[in-house]
Amino acid sequence: MLKIAVFASGRGSNFQAILDQIKKGVIPAELKLLISDSQNSGALKKAEAENIENIFIDPTNFKKRTDYEKKLIDLLKAAEIDLIVLAGYLRILSPFFIDHFKNQIINIHPSLLPAFKGLNAQKKALDYGVKYSGCTVHFVDAELDAGPIIKQAVVEVKADDRPEDLAARILTKEHQIYPEVVKKIAEGKIKLRGKKVKTLGEREAE
Ligand code: GRF
Repeated sequence: MLKIAVFASGRGSNFQAILDQIKKGVIPAELKLLISDSQNSGALKKAEAENIENIFIDPTNFKKRTDYEKKLIDLLKAAEIDLIVLAGYLRILSPFFIDHFKNQIINIHPSLLPAFKGLNAQKKALDYGVKYSGCTVHFVDAELDAGPIIKQAVVEVKADDRPEDLAARILTKEHQIYPEVVKKIAEGKIKLRGKKVKTLGEREAE
């Protein structure tokens, strides 16, 4: 069975959404570890309540980013983790870390990439005036929010949307597509071909 670690800095609602589907038996995987860089994160509390091993690692305790990342790598290797799921993890991972887990790290971003990369994506979408936004699950590579796209969901922008309104509507979609992608990966149905991702059992884009 696929062994998963989730990295989260904040609330942890995507962590919970994925865990719920694992507990129901929908996703054939084991969520072994929740790692956070923020001691007061909701994600750590949720993991604790669910009896999932949860570890806070304080990045400020390390002189260099690679030392912090070496610590992460040791933990992940010891737990024989196959898939790292970034769910609101606010740190940028270095190529050193990413190379250790080539095509084994995924992320969710609250916009239709490649539009509105980085922080505050929902506000950026509103400020730009797009009529549709959404969320994107993608593989993580060395470039921020630019790895191969696995799945996207679209959300309509309403005229009077505030960033928090749009964010809430996007989040509902996140909780649908992130577990769906993890399930497909657990079933071995996600194939990466260059920059393009094919999901077996789904029609390929024209
Ligand atoms: C989500 O909006 C996700 O798209 C972004 O960070 C947020 C995490 O929310 N990367 P949560 O901690 O999973 O509730």
